[in-house]
Amino acid sequence: MTSSPNSQDIQTLFNDIAPIYDQMNDWLSFGIHRVWKLMAVKWSNPHPFDTALDLCCGTGDLTFLMAKQIFQGKVIGVDFSSELLAEAEKKQHNKSLNSEIQWLETDVLNLPFEDNSFDCATMGYGLRNVTDIPACLLEIQRVLKPQAKVAILDFHKPSEDWVANSQKWYLDNVVVKIADFLGTSSEYAYIYPSLERFPNGESQIQLGLNAGFSQGIHYPLFGGIMGILVLTK
Ligand SMILES: C[S@@+](CC[C@H](N)C(=O)[O-])C[C@H]1O[C@@H](n2cnc3c(N)ncnc32)[C@H](O)[C@@H]1O
Repeated sequence: MTSSPNSQDIQTLFNDIAPIYDQMNDWLSFGIHRVWKLMAVKWSNPHPFDTALDLCCGTGDLTFLMAKQIFQGKVIGVDFSSELLAEAEKKQHNKSLNSEIQWLETDVLNLPFEDNSFDCATMGYGLRNVTDIPACLLEIQRVLKPQAKVAILDFHKPSEDWVANSQKWYLDNVVVKIADFLGTSSEYAYIYPSLERFPNGESQIQLGLNAGFSQGIHYPLFGGIMGILVLTK
Protein backbone atom coordinates (compact mmCIF):
# COMPACT_ATOMS: atom_id res chain seq x y z
CA MET A 1 0.00 0.00 0.00
CA THR A 2 2.26 2.85 -1.24
CA SER A 3 -0.33 5.32 -2.63
CA SER A 4 -2.42 7.27 -0.07
CA PRO A 5 -4.83 4.76 1.49
CA ASN A 6 -8.44 5.63 2.25
CA SER A 7 -10.02 5.41 5.67
CA GLN A 8 -11.42 1.93 5.07
CA ASP A 9 -7.95 0.62 4.02
CA ILE A 10 -6.45 2.01 7.25
CA GLN A 11 -9.19 0.49 9.39
CA THR A 12 -8.73 -2.93 7.73
CA LEU A 13 -4.95 -2.71 8.08
CA PHE A 14 -5.13 -2.09 11.84
CA ASN A 15 -7.81 -4.71 12.39
CA ASP A 16 -5.56 -7.23 10.60
CA ILE A 17 -2.46 -6.59 12.72
CA ALA A 18 -4.31 -6.45 16.07
CA PRO A 19 -3.10 -9.88 17.35
CA ILE A 20 0.60 -8.99 16.92
CA TYR A 21 0.48 -5.20 17.34
CA ASP A 22 1.84 -4.97 20.91
CA GLN A 23 4.50 -7.62 20.36
CA MET A 24 5.76 -5.83 17.24
CA ASN A 25 5.99 -2.49 19.07
CA ASP A 26 8.14 -4.05 21.78
CA TRP A 27 10.41 -5.90 19.36
CA LEU A 28 10.84 -3.09 16.86
CA SER A 29 11.59 -0.32 19.36
CA PHE A 30 13.37 -2.59 21.91
CA GLY A 31 10.66 -1.46 24.34
CA ILE A 32 11.63 2.22 24.08
CA HIS A 33 8.18 3.18 22.76
CA ARG A 34 7.03 2.88 26.38
CA VAL A 35 9.33 5.76 27.40
CA TRP A 36 8.17 7.93 24.48
CA LYS A 37 4.55 7.21 25.41
CA LEU A 38 5.18 8.20 29.03
CA MET A 39 6.75 11.46 27.83
CA ALA A 40 3.70 12.18 25.66
CA VAL A 41 1.36 11.62 28.60
CA LYS A 42 3.42 13.90 30.90
CA TRP A 43 3.57 16.64 28.25
CA SER A 44 -0.19 16.60 27.81
CA ASN A 45 -0.20 18.00 31.38
CA PRO A 46 -2.71 15.73 33.16
CA HIS A 47 -4.03 16.59 36.65
CA PRO A 48 -6.15 14.80 39.26
CA PHE A 49 -9.88 14.77 38.42
CA ASP A 50 -9.20 15.55 34.73
CA THR A 51 -11.24 14.20 31.87
CA ALA A 52 -8.73 13.08 29.24
CA LEU A 53 -8.92 11.83 25.68
CA ASP A 54 -6.58 9.34 24.00
CA LEU A 55 -7.07 9.58 20.25
CA CYS A 56 -6.32 6.57 17.99
CA CYS A 57 -5.79 4.63 21.22
CA GLY A 58 -5.27 1.23 19.56
CA THR A 59 -4.50 -1.32 22.28
CA GLY A 60 -4.57 1.45 24.87
CA ASP A 61 -0.94 1.97 25.99
CA LEU A 62 -1.34 5.74 26.30
CA THR A 63 -4.86 5.40 27.71
CA PHE A 64 -3.55 3.20 30.54
CA LEU A 65 -0.61 5.52 31.25
CA MET A 66 -3.01 8.46 31.37
CA ALA A 67 -5.35 6.56 33.70
CA LYS A 68 -2.40 6.03 36.07
CA GLN A 69 -1.36 9.69 35.99
CA ILE A 70 -4.83 11.08 36.59
CA PHE A 71 -6.21 10.42 40.03
CA GLN A 72 -9.99 9.97 40.20
CA GLY A 73 -10.57 11.26 36.69
CA LYS A 74 -11.81 9.71 33.49
CA VAL A 75 -9.98 8.73 30.31
CA ILE A 76 -11.73 8.02 27.04
CA GLY A 77 -9.81 5.96 24.47
CA VAL A 78 -11.15 6.33 20.93
CA ASP A 79 -10.26 4.32 17.83
CA PHE A 80 -12.06 2.99 14.76
CA SER A 81 -10.44 -0.46 14.92
CA SER A 82 -12.78 -2.80 16.80
CA GLU A 83 -10.05 -5.47 16.93
CA LEU A 84 -7.48 -3.20 18.59
CA LEU A 85 -10.09 -1.93 21.05
CA ALA A 86 -10.89 -5.54 21.94
CA GLU A 87 -7.16 -6.09 22.72
CA ALA A 88 -7.22 -2.94 24.88
CA GLU A 89 -10.19 -4.21 26.87
CA LYS A 90 -8.45 -7.57 27.42
CA LYS A 91 -5.34 -5.79 28.75
CA GLN A 92 -7.38 -3.68 31.14
CA HIS A 93 -8.24 -6.73 33.28
CA ASN A 94 -4.65 -6.98 34.58
CA LYS A 95 -4.17 -3.30 35.37
CA SER A 96 -4.56 -1.28 38.51
CA LEU A 97 -5.56 2.20 37.45
CA ASN A 98 -6.42 5.43 39.26
CA SER A 99 -9.14 6.56 36.88
CA GLU A 100 -12.13 5.20 35.03
CA ILE A 101 -11.58 4.24 31.37
CA GLN A 102 -14.14 4.25 28.60
CA TRP A 103 -13.42 2.73 25.16
CA LEU A 104 -15.21 4.16 22.17
CA GLU A 105 -15.21 2.90 18.59
CA THR A 106 -15.37 6.04 16.49
CA ASP A 107 -13.63 8.09 13.81
CA VAL A 108 -11.33 10.77 15.22
CA LEU A 109 -12.26 12.98 12.25
CA ASN A 110 -15.78 13.22 13.61
CA LEU A 111 -15.69 13.02 17.41
CA PRO A 112 -19.01 12.57 19.24
CA PHE A 113 -18.14 15.11 21.97
CA GLU A 114 -19.26 18.64 22.78
CA ASP A 115 -16.87 21.55 22.25
CA ASN A 116 -14.47 22.22 25.19
CA SER A 117 -14.95 18.78 26.80
CA PHE A 118 -11.39 17.62 27.67
CA ASP A 119 -8.66 18.83 30.03
CA CYS A 120 -5.85 17.09 28.12
CA ALA A 121 -5.33 14.68 25.25
CA THR A 122 -2.78 12.32 23.73
CA MET A 123 -2.41 10.69 20.34
CA GLY A 124 0.21 7.99 19.66
CA TYR A 125 1.10 7.11 16.06
CA GLY A 126 -2.33 8.28 14.93
CA LEU A 127 -1.86 11.63 13.16
CA ARG A 128 0.32 10.04 10.42
CA ASN A 129 -2.48 7.57 9.76
CA VAL A 130 -5.54 9.81 9.49
CA THR A 131 -6.65 10.69 5.96
CA ASP A 132 -7.03 14.43 6.71
CA ILE A 133 -4.51 15.90 9.18
CA PRO A 134 -5.86 19.51 9.18
CA ALA A 135 -9.41 18.22 9.82
CA CYS A 136 -8.13 16.00 12.62
CA LEU A 137 -6.32 18.89 14.33
CA LEU A 138 -9.43 21.08 14.02
CA GLU A 139 -11.46 18.35 15.69
CA ILE A 140 -8.96 17.94 18.55
CA GLN A 141 -8.84 21.72 19.04
CA ARG A 142 -12.65 21.81 19.15
CA VAL A 143 -13.04 19.21 21.92
CA LEU A 144 -10.23 20.51 24.17
CA LYS A 145 -10.93 23.10 26.84
CA PRO A 146 -9.19 26.50 26.53
CA GLN A 147 -5.48 26.23 27.55
CA ALA A 148 -5.62 22.43 27.42
CA LYS A 149 -2.80 20.54 25.69
CA VAL A 150 -2.60 17.64 23.29
CA ALA A 151 0.66 15.69 22.97
CA ILE A 152 1.01 13.89 19.64
CA LEU A 153 3.69 11.20 19.38
CA ASP A 154 4.71 9.83 16.01
CA PHE A 155 7.54 8.83 13.72
CA HIS A 156 9.45 11.78 12.31
CA LYS A 157 11.68 12.31 9.28
CA PRO A 158 15.11 13.32 10.61
CA SER A 159 16.80 16.33 9.00
CA GLU A 160 20.25 14.63 8.92
CA ASP A 161 20.62 12.49 5.77
CA TRP A 162 22.55 9.67 7.43
CA VAL A 163 19.91 9.33 10.18
CA ALA A 164 17.09 9.40 7.60
CA ASN A 165 18.89 6.73 5.53
CA SER A 166 19.44 4.54 8.61
CA GLN A 167 15.79 4.93 9.55
CA LYS A 168 14.70 3.88 6.04
CA TRP A 169 17.11 0.94 6.09
CA TYR A 170 15.73 -0.20 9.47
CA LEU A 171 12.12 0.09 8.35
CA ASP A 172 12.75 -1.69 5.02
CA ASN A 173 15.14 -4.38 6.23
CA VAL A 174 14.31 -5.09 9.85
CA VAL A 175 10.69 -4.07 10.41
CA VAL A 176 9.33 -5.48 7.15
CA LYS A 177 11.41 -8.68 7.47
CA ILE A 178 10.15 -9.36 11.00
CA ALA A 179 6.59 -8.54 9.93
CA ASP A 180 7.05 -10.90 6.96
CA PHE A 181 7.98 -13.67 9.40
CA LEU A 182 4.66 -13.00 11.20
CA GLY A 183 2.72 -12.85 7.91
CA THR A 184 2.02 -9.11 7.89
CA SER A 185 4.80 -7.58 5.74
CA SER A 186 2.50 -5.47 3.53
CA GLU A 187 0.94 -3.80 6.59
CA TYR A 188 4.34 -2.87 8.02
CA ALA A 189 5.72 -1.89 4.58
CA TYR A 190 3.14 0.91 4.82
CA ILE A 191 5.07 2.73 7.60
CA TYR A 192 7.78 4.27 5.41
CA PRO A 193 5.46 5.68 2.67
CA SER A 194 3.20 7.08 5.39
CA LEU A 195 6.24 8.75 6.97
CA GLU A 196 7.30 10.23 3.62
CA ARG A 197 3.90 11.92 3.34
CA PHE A 198 3.91 13.08 6.99
CA PRO A 199 4.73 16.81 7.56
CA ASN A 200 7.95 17.59 9.47
CA GLY A 201 7.89 19.10 12.97
CA GLU A 202 7.85 22.71 11.79
CA SER A 203 4.97 22.06 9.39
CA GLN A 204 3.10 20.17 12.10
CA ILE A 205 3.35 23.24 14.36
CA GLN A 206 2.03 25.43 11.53
CA LEU A 207 -0.87 23.04 10.92
CA GLY A 208 -1.68 23.20 14.63
CA LEU A 209 -1.69 26.99 14.62
CA ASN A 210 -3.87 26.97 11.47
CA ALA A 211 -6.32 24.74 13.35
CA GLY A 212 -6.68 27.40 16.04
CA PHE A 213 -4.19 26.26 18.69
CA SER A 214 -2.49 29.21 20.39
CA GLN A 215 0.93 27.55 20.76
CA GLY A 216 2.82 24.64 19.27
CA ILE A 217 6.17 23.05 19.93
CA HIS A 218 7.71 19.96 18.37
CA TYR A 219 10.28 17.89 20.29
CA PRO A 220 12.41 15.59 18.11
CA LEU A 221 13.30 12.35 19.95
CA PHE A 222 15.97 9.71 19.43
CA GLY A 223 18.01 11.62 16.84
CA GLY A 224 14.85 12.95 15.20
CA ILE A 225 13.40 9.59 14.13
CA MET A 226 10.46 10.17 16.49
CA GLY A 227 8.81 13.35 17.67
CA ILE A 228 6.21 14.74 20.04
CA LEU A 229 4.10 17.70 18.95
CA VAL A 230 2.60 19.57 21.89
CA LEU A 231 -0.24 21.94 21.01
CA THR A 232 -1.97 24.27 23.47
CA LYS A 233 -5.50 25.49 22.78
C1 LIG B 1 -0.22 2.85 14.88
S1 LIG B 1 -1.74 2.66 15.72
C2 LIG B 1 -1.42 3.47 17.26
C3 LIG B 1 -2.09 2.83 18.44
C4 LIG B 1 -1.70 3.38 19.81
N1 LIG B 1 -2.05 4.77 19.95
C5 LIG B 1 -0.23 3.20 20.09
O1 LIG B 1 0.46 4.20 20.24
O2 LIG B 1 0.22 2.06 20.16
C6 LIG B 1 -2.75 3.84 14.89
C7 LIG B 1 -4.18 3.76 15.30
O3 LIG B 1 -4.91 4.81 14.68
C8 LIG B 1 -6.21 4.32 14.42
N2 LIG B 1 -6.83 5.23 13.46
C9 LIG B 1 -6.33 5.67 12.27
N3 LIG B 1 -7.18 6.52 11.69
C10 LIG B 1 -8.24 6.65 12.53
C11 LIG B 1 -9.43 7.40 12.49
N4 LIG B 1 -9.73 8.19 11.46
N5 LIG B 1 -10.28 7.32 13.53
C12 LIG B 1 -10.01 6.49 14.59
N6 LIG B 1 -8.90 5.75 14.68
C13 LIG B 1 -8.02 5.83 13.66
C14 LIG B 1 -5.99 2.91 13.96
O4 LIG B 1 -7.14 2.10 14.06
C15 LIG B 1 -4.87 2.46 14.92
O5 LIG B 1 -5.38 1.89 16.09
